[in-house]
Amino acid sequence: MQFPAEFLREKLICALAGRFEPPLPEPLLEPCADPRFGDLQSSAALVLGRRYSLDPRALAGEMAASVGETDWSLPPEVAGPGFLNFRLKSERCVGAFLSLAGDPRLGIERTKEPQTVVVDYSSPNIAKEMHVGHLRSTILGESLARVYRFFGHRVVTVNHLGDWGTQFGMVLLGFKRRREETRLEDRPLEYLEELYQRIQTAAKEDPGIRQEAKAELWKLQNGDAENLALWHRFVEASKVELTRIYEELGVHFEFTLGESAYREELPSVVRDLRAAGIAQSSQGAVCVFFPEDPELKDKPFLIQKSDGAYLYATTDLAALRFRVAKWKADRILYVTDGRQQLHFHQLAATAKRWGLSVRIEHVWFGSILGEDKKPLKTREGRPIKLRELLSEAERRAYAIIAAKRPDLPEERKIRIARAIGIGALKYADLSQNRNLDYVFRWEKLLSFEGNTAPYLLNAYVRIRAILRKAEASGVSPAAGPLAAPAEVQLTKLLLDFSSILARVQSENRPHFLCTYLYEVARSFHRFYESCPVLTAPPPMQAARILLCQGTAATLGTGLDLLGIERLEEM
Ligand code: ARG
Repeated sequence: MQFPAEFLREKLICALAGRFEPPLPEPLLEPCADPRFGDLQSSAALVLGRRYSLDPRALAGEMAASVGETDWSLPPEVAGPGFLNFRLKSERCVGAFLSLAGDPRLGIERTKEPQTVVVDYSSPNIAKEMHVGHLRSTILGESLARVYRFFGHRVVTVNHLGDWGTQFGMVLLGFKRRREETRLEDRPLEYLEELYQRIQTAAKEDPGIRQEAKAELWKLQNGDAENLALWHRFVEASKVELTRIYEELGVHFEFTLGESAYREELPSVVRDLRAAGIAQSSQGAVCVFFPEDPELKDKPFLIQKSDGAYLYATTDLAALRFRVAKWKADRILYVTDGRQQLHFHQLAATAKRWGLSVRIEHVWFGSILGEDKKPLKTREGRPIKLRELLSEAERRAYAIIAAKRPDLPEERKIRIARAIGIGALKYADLSQNRNLDYVFRWEKLLSFEGNTAPYLLNAYVRIRAILRKAEASGVSPAAGPLAAPAEVQLTKLLLDFSSILARVQSENRPHFLCTYLYEVARSFHRFYESCPVLTAPPPMQAARILLCQGTAATLGTGLDLLGIERLEEM
């Protein structure tokens, strides 16, 4: 079905498209921050006014006149410096809500043009433990994959492990100098990381060690049997620990294809690009130059070093070619930190010249900071291990649950604590605009107040309890009168779900969904405070239960799409 926000968005596009060059400012329309001003708001006139030196209020007035009154809305009003506020017709919204309540997808349709979307995320460099820095990619990527899938795209999730890089030279050397088989069995990542660090430290005193490590890497990459066999063991051991973390996070990849998977393809990538005249030799190395791109003009993409070695870039080109050829990828999302922006810009520019018709999107993010505003570290100043962070989240959540619900049996407490702890960690990340750094605070992310996972889960649990009670007393949800202001406001908000998800997808930013779910939960609380549900007279009661059901479906689906486990009690 078509929702009011989508309907009005199209009206706005009609009003603006003939007059202004695309792209039009986004979002064209969003929920009003303050319901006193209206239900939906557009700041497009402000943006366009600035862009074209026009009077924004006059432009907003013209837009208002062009849209006029519609089936869904009253004539829009110009406010402040040039905002356009829309008030939706309550009865129309209630009617629409009643017609779709009960649909688990809440009337949200799948795309008519499904694409194959590859989501490349998490992708840690292995033979090292996963650190807090890997959290954002893992969590953001998982959520985005779920959102694309929800809209009906064919999603291929892939963990592009860094399993063929320089760290293996160090680790191989370290292991050969002091073999500790049992440690490799028991805690492989911790051990391998220690080996790595040991060699790093030693290399500082004796630069010859770096050469030795390089020689080990060279042997590995050129087929030395001993090094390959060791490498294999290191990789397998690392994967066991990674799998444990992914399981705990509820993250699942269709493919785990590391850099090593493309090692045979690298020579042909360079050969192809040279033959096509896209790559050139330059001082013994091979590079792609972008003379026509102002940003990349003096930033060549190095694909083979003068000593013959291949690079991160070469592997990414091979992976890209594979994904387009084998998976028929239409789009690839690369979820990494912001420091790789140049790399992906170069990759996309090369792909274009290579004739690969695929849309490359670099979904980049900022850092997680400690209270001192520096990248989050332990007190001793080392990076925080992801597994430590996860257990601390669970431990802290357990303390909260044990205090709140001493009545619960132990294993239920543990299960709930796990869902809350992990959910809170994920939500803290997802609820931030990904391009910004954010400060990590346990108190904040585990708080039951504010825009947090515990707050949302709590709202969800409460609504589910109401629904269970209603069911037990034989009341079924049914259409009926919904006219109280709190009821209407919640109803209208629920109808925004579709356009919010569309925005999450078009910008690859799950935080819009978080903000929205928080608003839904708040609006629900206002409704619940002013409108009794279980004690209301019959037709009203059935309609209010329907509203509870729609809210639970929205919150539940929203949590699923964020990758946060729902709870039935807490
Ligand atoms: N291993 C890289 C890192 O840790 C991320 C890889 C991202 N994916 C890719 N296809 N380049 O920074």
